[in-house]
Amino acid sequence: MKSPAPRRDRHAFYEAAVQGVEWDLDFLARTFRNRNKREARTFREDFCSTAALATAWAQRNAANESWAVDLDPEPLAWAKKYRLPYVREVAKRVHLVKSDVRKPQKPLVDVACALNFSWWVFHERPDLLAYLKAARASLKPGGVLVLNAFGGTKAERTLSERTRKSATNTPDGRMLPPFTYVWEQKSFNALDRRLLAYIHFEIKDGPRMPRAFVYDWRMWTLRELQEACLEAGFADFEVWSEGWDAESRTHTGTLHKRAKLDNEDCWIGYCAAYR
Ligand SMILES: C[S@@+](CC[C@H](N)C(=O)[O-])C[C@H]1O[C@@H](n2cnc3c(N)ncnc32)[C@H](O)[C@@H]1O
Repeated sequence: MKSPAPRRDRHAFYEAAVQGVEWDLDFLARTFRNRNKREARTFREDFCSTAALATAWAQRNAANESWAVDLDPEPLAWAKKYRLPYVREVAKRVHLVKSDVRKPQKPLVDVACALNFSWWVFHERPDLLAYLKAARASLKPGGVLVLNAFGGTKAERTLSERTRKSATNTPDGRMLPPFTYVWEQKSFNALDRRLLAYIHFEIKDGPRMPRAFVYDWRMWTLRELQEACLEAGFADFEVWSEGWDAESRTHTGTLHKRAKLDNEDCWIGYCAAYR
């Protein structure tokens, strides 16, 4: 693969704009530890794209091993070129797998995830069920699958949100300039709950990357996901969301298990399905 200039590398911008790798991994490890009273060691990142989580998992502990599954060879090739060589020995414990996540995977793992709403790519229930069944069948006893979803009054309508991001480094040490991350919800169809959304990147005095990523998602509700998980054979299902600090009007950064969720502007639910 030819090395894209960092100023044109949509995967590098995506990672810097969207992913909170260590925060996500802390939660995945916590759900497993709570249930099993031991640390999870094996992990599968479904819909992995550039395998940021899978690699960071292996970096956390010399006993950790991970599998990263995506059906698109392009982001897997990116991970192979721009990420794995830069973690040296750790790369031996990260396995890139080109596959449809609806196929059961081997070996069985302690923890798996489908984050950043990737599972919303499934528009029909049989496809969602096929994924959940395969994901469950690919977990060890005691294993957990974590999926997230968002909703709220700002979620089901058109909007465009701009966030400034500082300069950072790519996994292979290239400099990524400061940029603006634009999240655009282009349309939402209340009838079939299909959301069309784009990610655009804008670099000051540099190239624009309109529609760097395009999403055609079905916004499944948490209740629909719970029902599908139980039908797929999961024994238990929990919803967690971040705490809210009313004084500073910011999220606290800590996830709490919920029996009730206020339909505020925009919430993100982290769902834990236990095998
Ligand atoms: C939004 S990216 C996820 C990026 C990253 N995992 C994250 O959490 O931000 C979605 C990825 O899912 C992959 N994908 C979509 N359908 C899939 C399927 N049925 N099986 C495997 N991968 C799939 C796409 O190729 C794409 O790389």
